[in-house]
Amino acid sequence: MSNKVITIERHIIEQERASNGATGDFSALLRDLTLAIKLINRDVSRAGLIDILGSTEMTNIQGETVQKLDEFADGVIYRAMDHGGHLCGMASEENEHILPIPDEYPKGKYVLLFDPLDGSSNIDANVSIGTIFSILRRVTPEGGDGTKEDFFQPGYKQIAAGYTIYGPSTMLVYTAGRGVYGFTLDPSVGEFLLSHNNIRIPEHNSIYSVNEGNYHKWSEGMRNYIDWCKKDIPEEKKKAYSLRYIGSMVADVHRTLLYGGVFLYPADVKSHKGKLRLLYEANPMSFVIEQAGGKATDGQGKRLLEIIPDDLHQRTPLVVGSPKNVDEVERFLNHS
Ligand code: AHG
Ligand code: MN
Ligand code: MN
Repeated sequence: MSNKVITIERHIIEQERASNGATGDFSALLRDLTLAIKLINRDVSRAGLIDILGSTEMTNIQGETVQKLDEFADGVIYRAMDHGGHLCGMASEENEHILPIPDEYPKGKYVLLFDPLDGSSNIDANVSIGTIFSILRRVTPEGGDGTKEDFFQPGYKQIAAGYTIYGPSTMLVYTAGRGVYGFTLDPSVGEFLLSHNNIRIPEHNSIYSVNEGNYHKWSEGMRNYIDWCKKDIPEEKKKAYSLRYIGSMVADVHRTLLYGGVFLYPADVKSHKGKLRLLYEANPMSFVIEQAGGKATDGQGKRLLEIIPDDLHQRTPLVVGSPKNVDEVERFLNHS
């Protein structure tokens, strides 16, 4: 076994060197982001001790209650990323409009989109939560503020994406389009160390993950799929599938990445576009899953990463996971 200790910083620099035209800009950007994530992790791990649990009096632009930790994490990421000269703008779940880079700082060639805290409703119960990020290269000329054009790019244009999961240990999982790598935070040295090299999702597993409370609002195809999951059908599948649902997308997708199976947030009669947000939830998680050998669709046969966005906060139905599981779902959804 190799006794090399590979920090996330070293890994990013080495990956960057291996690709053509690396300037070091991108690794510096990810270094700033890693610092923000460590700061969020510090407060998440002390959440019961300091006055940061519970909700604020506010609702965000999606009409959802803003938890104190949502607001805190949003501010930490913005402040860690506003001055490095790498970004020309940011966008987050908690802010209606593009967040500009302050005038006193140079504007860079990337944009950052993020969900500062995913799974907020789980915070007070000490259940795993996460942070999701997506990085795009700007398409407008360098120098000025980033505009909608820079943000409204399909997911396949992401140059990097990933998430942190604040669980029993804190992990950062990321892809820059050359495989998926997982790093575990060693709290004794405060560094993310490579723990999961070149993650590959299993081809198939007998696990499905969905909020089944929505069953009666789903399409017939979706209901048929879930009914099928619960049956032993020896000629098609050995046994009924297991249901696992945490209610934090990061945690549910992370488990799916490592164990296989499928995670779904489909459309229903009330929410025709599902619940999850395309730009800072569905796209980055789909990029990671695809890079690990999985599939991500909108449940209507379309590759999720090809959706052309027209709103910062648009939602999309999502089916993501092991390739064979996603194909099973698609078979049902496209037959009703
Ligand atoms: P957020 O906490 O960023 O608003 O995201 C919550 C999302 C996602 O994490 C999870 O998969 C989904 O909401 C759960 O929704 P239901 O409560 O409808 O199951
Ligand atoms: Mn979220
Ligand atoms: Mn969130």
